[in-house]
Amino acid sequence: MKKRIAVVPGDGIGIDVTREAVKVLQAVAQAGGHQLAFTEFDWGAERYLREGVSLPDGALEMLRRDFDAILLGALGDPRIPDMSHAKDILFGMRFGLEQFANIRPVKLLHPSLSALKKYDHIDFIIFRENTEGLYAGLGGNFKKGTRDEVAIQEDINTWKGVERIIRLAFDYARSHARKRLVMSDKSNALTFGHDIWQRVFAAMQPEYPDIESRHLYVDNLAFQMIKNPTQFDVIVTCNMFGDIVSDEGAALVGGLGIAPSGNVNPDGISMFEPVHGSAPKYAGKNHANPLGAILTAAMLLDHLGLTAEAGWVEDAVRASLAEGQTTKDLGGSLGTREVGDWLAHFIASHATSSSRTGA
Ligand code: NAD
Ligand code: IPM
Ligand code: MN
Repeated sequence: MKKRIAVVPGDGIGIDVTREAVKVLQAVAQAGGHQLAFTEFDWGAERYLREGVSLPDGALEMLRRDFDAILLGALGDPRIPDMSHAKDILFGMRFGLEQFANIRPVKLLHPSLSALKKYDHIDFIIFRENTEGLYAGLGGNFKKGTRDEVAIQEDINTWKGVERIIRLAFDYARSHARKRLVMSDKSNALTFGHDIWQRVFAAMQPEYPDIESRHLYVDNLAFQMIKNPTQFDVIVTCNMFGDIVSDEGAALVGGLGIAPSGNVNPDGISMFEPVHGSAPKYAGKNHANPLGAILTAAMLLDHLGLTAEAGWVEDAVRASLAEGQTTKDLGGSLGTREVGDWLAHFIASHATSSSRTGA
């Protein structure tokens, strides 16, 4: 199978971890007899500072036309404090390519990793709305820079936008035998913007009698995730809350270094990136944990229909955790590159001939 993958390493440790994710994807392609064609794009802080270009003209059309998926590292550079280049590139793709679902699995791959030592099985998935809410970019400043300044950031919630993310979450629950779904909002305070989440959710629940669905206010969700994370299968929430609770989720399963994510448009091109950012202090030091990016690459494979191959990557990651072949944040002593090498080698030697033929 031939697939074309656009690679945007971005900034900081995004560059370090993406290199390892591509290395692992190449090992998978080799072992599985697939053709994965990678094309790298230098969109990020360096190019922006050099040429003033963030997301080049025509980039979105080119991605839609020429690629099957996008792999992104991270964006963010202290030399650009307002993150303008990062917003252009990241939101440009999320919004411009209608990647309305930010899917963030929270899965414990080794019992030693959780910040909560009480649980050895945590496995749920967050569906974060990804194109609306407080991220829509509507608002402005009045009397900016004076003591009379007024700053407004509008929270945009449309029936269509809320319905499609809740429906995707329900459909995922049904197709993956995940029986429990929680919709989370702050409708007790956000009278207009989140009341619509309540009404859309209530209208859809009768369509999914096989799914045990319920509502939690987001403050209680944050509490319940720590109190007992095993009560969740699927969580669906708005853009802002999804951002926050996905970092909380990462802490439940090993930290930001190991948390993957996908920005999905079920009818278009999707973009896969780890949950973490560019962690500038670790950039270029062979220090960053590449597992978040590598598990992100596994999500990309699964999205392309290479489900068995995605399983090889997860198996390899589980093996590296079981054997302590990890970076320092997970208690090991390897560098970024050495983790990538270990996983690529594991895949090369463990992908069996039966799985190679997809049997
Ligand atoms: P961050 O995720 O970059 O780092 C926070 C901390 O988490 C780090 O200091 C480090 O201790 C740990 N960490 C994160 N990733 C790690 C890894 N792979 N290995 C080991 N430890 C890791 O978040 P931040 O410091 O809030 O943001 C830094 C920059 O990244 C900012 O410019 C921010 O806007 C940006 N950012 C970008 C994205 C993205 O591109 N998707 C996501 C989050 C933050
Ligand atoms: C994430 C990040 C981004 C977000 C930032 C960098 C704008 O935190 O992907 O979680 O808030 O979506
Ligand atoms: Mn975030």
